Amino acid sequence: MSTDVVRFVTDCRVCGGERWQKVISFGRVPLANGFLEEADSYPHEEAYPLEVVSCRDCRLLSLTAVVDPQVLYRTYSYVTSDSETMRQHMRTVVRLCGHHTGRRPGGLVVELGSNTGDQLLAFQETGARVLGIDPARNLAAIAEERGVPTLAEYFGSALAATVADEHGKASLILGRHVFAHIDDLADVLAGVRALLAPDGLFTIEVPYAVDMVERLEFDTIYHEHLSYFLISTLDTLFARHGLRTVDVERLAVHGGSVLVSAGFADGPHPTGERVRELIDHERAAGYLSDGVYQEFATRVRHTCAELTRLVRDLVADGKRVAGYGASAKGTTLLNVCGLGRDELEFCTDTTPQKQGKVTPGTHIPVVAPQAVRRPPDLYLLLAWNYAEEILRREAAFLDAGGGFVLPVPEPTVRTGAVTAR
Ligand code: TYD
Ligand code: ZN
Repeated sequence: MSTDVVRFVTDCRVCGGERWQKVISFGRVPLANGFLEEADSYPHEEAYPLEVVSCRDCRLLSLTAVVDPQVLYRTYSYVTSDSETMRQHMRTVVRLCGHHTGRRPGGLVVELGSNTGDQLLAFQETGARVLGIDPARNLAAIAEERGVPTLAEYFGSALAATVADEHGKASLILGRHVFAHIDDLADVLAGVRALLAPDGLFTIEVPYAVDMVERLEFDTIYHEHLSYFLISTLDTLFARHGLRTVDVERLAVHGGSVLVSAGFADGPHPTGERVRELIDHERAAGYLSDGVYQEFATRVRHTCAELTRLVRDLVADGKRVAGYGASAKGTTLLNVCGLGRDELEFCTDTTPQKQGKVTPGTHIPVVAPQAVRRPPDLYLLLAWNYAEEILRREAAFLDAGGGFVLPVPEPTVRTGAVTAR
């Protein structure tokens, strides 16, 4: 491991504190989206420490090792999944954001990490002016082609000032699943302050730490996700940067996420009831003290051991097992549980950029679903966040006697007999 590409966290990116509780360490794990070309051996594949700590002051859950974004996103193969679940979710986001911003037709909606522009297209349909910002040039180009103006840049205070000059202030700045990827939150929030209209809203969607802990979604821990947030923690963060938490919605996507909105601390939007309720719940349920996180680590180790045993037993019984969805989560799951080519014959994935490559660390071939000639007996569902949609779509496979292993919160096998109930 070349140490110059890793920065070890000292002070908390939310509150500046330095009192950390060690939560869990997974040892060294390769990058979640570091899919490789098939080869005889992989001597140059790097693995980096994957370890989570909790700030005893603001209860931010953070990775200890921050991999240089230039390295992390160099081979970025993530594109927003073209799934019914996601399309519907994006419409929900438009509706929820509209509660606050819909009163201003023609208002500017800026999205940070706009990927290929799907979410902004949904905003465009409602008559909003839109602008995407995403450093991935290949994705920004696709978005542009689809009619979504997109800047291929990193968002920060410098860029925000330029955007405000050229396009005016934004009534909504949206960041869906980008906030957890950002190390320097202060500069991004300075950018938000520079670009947001006085009565505008900054709305982020992040995986909810309470859901991750309760449902043991340990595989959502990978190097791209530097932070795992409670509402209390976000509230602390916003307050330190002149903003006020206004509203929060719990969402089912990605194993449980929250859509959290903030406005200027001296702006017109008050703090909603639901914000207080969730903050109270977090305190009452123990999320502001060590115990919950110790217990999380114990339960994760148990689930991992169970899953490994289950899959190995199936293989020992002569069952053919493959992975379904070569997700980023799958990289953590397979590497941490020690499941590889001995257990999984292949992984199917709909993303063209991943097909023909092998999975990071475990080197399982990734194939297009339609290229599978002999379906396995069971699929390990590595894209479990789409479980409902996938089980529905794979009804024929289930009816023919196939099964799915659902890894979290507790490894379970779903077969046609059960799902047809
Ligand atoms: P995603 O849910 O975006 O999660 P992560 O952030 O963990 O990568 O990724 C799901 C992966 O699964 C993605 O590579 C696309 C793939 N996929 C399928 O192969 N089939 C499907 O039906 C769906 C919904 C996703
Ligand atoms: Zn902190």
